[in-house]
Amino acid sequence: PKNIGIKGFEFYFPKNYVDLADLEKYDNEVGKYTKGRGQKEMSFCTDCEDSVSMALTVTSALLKNYNIDIKDIGYLSVGTESLVDKSKSIKTSLMRLFKPEENHDIGGVDMKNACYGGTEAIFGAVDWLQANYDTEHRNAIAVLVDIAVYGEKSARSTGGASAIAFLIGPDAPISFEKGLRSYYMEDITDFYKPIGGMASEYPVVNGADSIKAYAQALDECFTAYNKKVLRLLNKERSIEDYVAVMFHCPYYRLIQKAFARLVFKDFLDGRNTNLVGAEKLEQLRNITLEESLNSREFWHDILLSANDLLKEKVEPNVEFNLRLGNSYTASLYTQIIKLIHRISDHEELNGKKALLFSYGSGCASAMFSLTFNLDDEKNRNEYENMRKSALNAAERMESRVRYSPDEYTAIMKDREDLIESEKPIVPHALNNGKFPEIFPNTYYLTHIGENFLRYYAIH
Ligand code: ACO
Repeated sequence: PKNIGIKGFEFYFPKNYVDLADLEKYDNEVGKYTKGRGQKEMSFCTDCEDSVSMALTVTSALLKNYNIDIKDIGYLSVGTESLVDKSKSIKTSLMRLFKPEENHDIGGVDMKNACYGGTEAIFGAVDWLQANYDTEHRNAIAVLVDIAVYGEKSARSTGGASAIAFLIGPDAPISFEKGLRSYYMEDITDFYKPIGGMASEYPVVNGADSIKAYAQALDECFTAYNKKVLRLLNKERSIEDYVAVMFHCPYYRLIQKAFARLVFKDFLDGRNTNLVGAEKLEQLRNITLEESLNSREFWHDILLSANDLLKEKVEPNVEFNLRLGNSYTASLYTQIIKLIHRISDHEELNGKKALLFSYGSGCASAMFSLTFNLDDEKNRNEYENMRKSALNAAERMESRVRYSPDEYTAIMKDREDLIESEKPIVPHALNNGKFPEIFPNTYYLTHIGENFLRYYAIH
């Protein structure tokens, strides 16, 4: 099979959000979350939604909106770090959607490693197709779902929630470049969810370590990726050669800096020497990773040199990240959705490449690239179907409900209470005398019954 990649998607986020200008005022941190980190809004779930309900919502929408024959799916994997069970994977919960046609011959389970698991779910789908499509003639689905919530004040404002389901198959309008995939993995404890605190949704976070690990993984992935480009294509590519560069995005300031690191590395390696402030960059040639992280001068100089490219390659695709917050596994991929949302001219994309960096604490990370194949009518039609999904998601984003920081804080308490309950419990959101704010066709948690079993219905 050729050009294995993305043939469709659905994008779901909860109807609730908190405005970060409100939250930073409430937290006595005026300017920090908006001006400082570059974010606008943060989506969150009440206690009647969890990772299973969101995965059901987004996968059922994908099956319906793309008229997928459920017998035609041969692989389905889920990337998440928002577990509701230590053993049973969310993938098995999604099998109820395939029950009507009794399709039980579907490979894949959940992939977990912080924000990186979604990438491995996608790679699993791509690799399954590579190995099996010739004999199976069936497609794959990768579902990325997370609810990012934190206990600590400084990190709490970097939460978020969303889910994406991708239809993956051959002859796709957006394909993964074969062989151009580098990884960086290392044993570190920058962010983790220990089993001792299993009931809690909150991670243990070493914020500074997580920033350092992100930068190190980025540098290493980029070096290894560029080596593969040279080996396989017999030529080099610089950042300028990509139509877009996308990152796992905990908050926008972090990826502005990440992008500047890549441009700086291109400069050091001679792939792009024609930059504003080149003399200053030359003086920074021997800076170590450690030194670079704490040097105001370093960030100032490299951000200045990268600024024009940032505006062209990164900034146009981050709107959903700014408005949803960090939705962990889905975070990187919302940038593809924004790109599809804003580009209607197929010629602007046809034959172009995008570079992607996926990071998950712990750590696991990868860099890889996509090609836009829009030269034939079938692919252009598939692209247009995806634009419909993107337009629809953007419209839904406008109809979300803004909650005050007080309401948000109370809802976080409700989530804690639900999770910690030893007895059967109905979500507080359903017990408030009015039905909660959820979009139509959304699955929700009706109650947790005996033996902690979770029950769902669709609205
Ligand atoms: N007004 C304007 N700007 C401000 C203000 C203010 N009041 N306060 C801070 N800033 C600026 C800072 O100067 C900084 O700018 P700079 O980048 O130019 O230096 C920027 O805002 C970011 O602020 P920080 O001080 O770096 O933010 P903080 O100390 O809260 O640390 C951190 C960020 C550690 C990442 C924290 O948010 C956290 O722990 N988050 C969870 C973990 C995380 O997201 N890690 C990232 C990768 S792993 C993952 O995705 C989970």
